[in-house]
Amino acid sequence: MPRLDTTEPLAAPDSVRQRVQRDYERFAKSGLPTSLEQYLLDEYDLDVTAEYAGFQIKNPWGKASGQLSMTARQVEEDVAAGLGFVVLKTVIARDEQGGQSMAAWAIPEARMVAEKIVGKLGETGWTITWKGRGWWQPFEAYLQLIRDARRIANGSGTLIVPSCKYHLPSPNEPEWRVGEYDFTTAKMLEAWQPDTSPMPLEKDFSPTLAGSDRAAAQAKILEWLRVVPKLVHAAAERSGAGQVRLGMKLFNALFDDGFQLQMLDAIHGPAADRPDFFIYANRLFDPHREFEGQRGVAFGGPDLSDRNLRVLDQWRTREPSLPWSATGNITTGRMAIEYLLRGATSFQLHTFFQLPAEHYAMKSGNHTQRALHELHFHPQTGFVVWLHHLANQRGFSERPIRLLDVARGSLSER
Ligand SMILES: Cc1cc2nc3c(=O)[nH]c(=O)nc-3n(C[C@H](O)[C@H](O)[C@H](O)COP(=O)(O)O)c2cc1C
Repeated sequence: MPRLDTTEPLAAPDSVRQRVQRDYERFAKSGLPTSLEQYLLDEYDLDVTAEYAGFQIKNPWGKASGQLSMTARQVEEDVAAGLGFVVLKTVIARDEQGGQSMAAWAIPEARMVAEKIVGKLGETGWTITWKGRGWWQPFEAYLQLIRDARRIANGSGTLIVPSCKYHLPSPNEPEWRVGEYDFTTAKMLEAWQPDTSPMPLEKDFSPTLAGSDRAAAQAKILEWLRVVPKLVHAAAERSGAGQVRLGMKLFNALFDDGFQLQMLDAIHGPAADRPDFFIYANRLFDPHREFEGQRGVAFGGPDLSDRNLRVLDQWRTREPSLPWSATGNITTGRMAIEYLLRGATSFQLHTFFQLPAEHYAMKSGNHTQRALHELHFHPQTGFVVWLHHLANQRGFSERPIRLLDVARGSLSER
């Protein structure tokens, strides 16, 4: 699928473009309408009802797992801003005795910097460079965060999603530490209760197998992807504490695009062994770049979305696909639409919620509200104007324009 053409003038009707311009300016001062979804429906004929993990959500915008979803206070701000979902920071799994095979990931962050980055094709974007990894506070504090986040979100329509990094064996390690899967899943499910609805859960992966040879590393990664869903679902069943809807957060491995397709194939195996959804795809990794004395850093920006979209285009020919949520350099409504056109039913962002304040036109409200304002109403790159542009350009006259229909192909080029 060709990328959206940004050189042509926007084909959204004049009336839409004028209203978007007006809303961009006035909401920058007044803040967003209380029910943004209703406003978009009434004013712009857009139904932004979305889906995450098979749950219907009020809109497609979510906070991706990371430093911005570690505290109840942060969750409170996101719920107040009206996000469709919030993925909590990744916790590092442990077993009943406190054993934690991925303990190296539970280190505090030293420093985080939002930096400009230029992609290989010359496009400028943003990346966050930092040193930390996963949750480093006690496991019990994470369970408390799940409980607090659920209480805060109750009745708001914002879905809360825990995230976990469980044990993953290296190529010379034959055993899976099932105890970590059992203990951590059961405890998270208990914290999720009393609600009887399944708990959505993202499984984060460590992107490197340093020191392993290529073939061994590839074989091991594919094994992880095939085995993890079985272990998590079995752990939930054994716990008797509820069900899990498991999403595999795929990462960009240090191999070629063909291997990314093998990873996607690996999670689309026999129905009983599959995860329930997936997230595509976490950041790129530069093994040579240094930051604060650490060699090898993850990065995002235009190269991340370029790679993700390229791989997703190849993957689309092999559908049907599990439901999925998009991540990776979503800094404009237009980029979200690139993922939407390839089938994503929700978008999760980290970097764009963390830019320096001067990069948002809205000067009041929290970072999440300011970001949502840009994402929706930016007159050149916003979600509203680009959806209308596409509908017009592709002769789609049905109203309202439904986001979920677009994900299922209603605005695809005929
Ligand atoms: C500082 C930072 C911390 C992150 N921590 C996690 C994490 O703990 N778990 C996870 O699954 N992804 C983590 N991510 C990845 C993000 O959730 C997101 O998928 C990725 O950054 C791509 O989205 P973006 O381009 O909007 O930043 C982190 C990203 C950043 C920048």
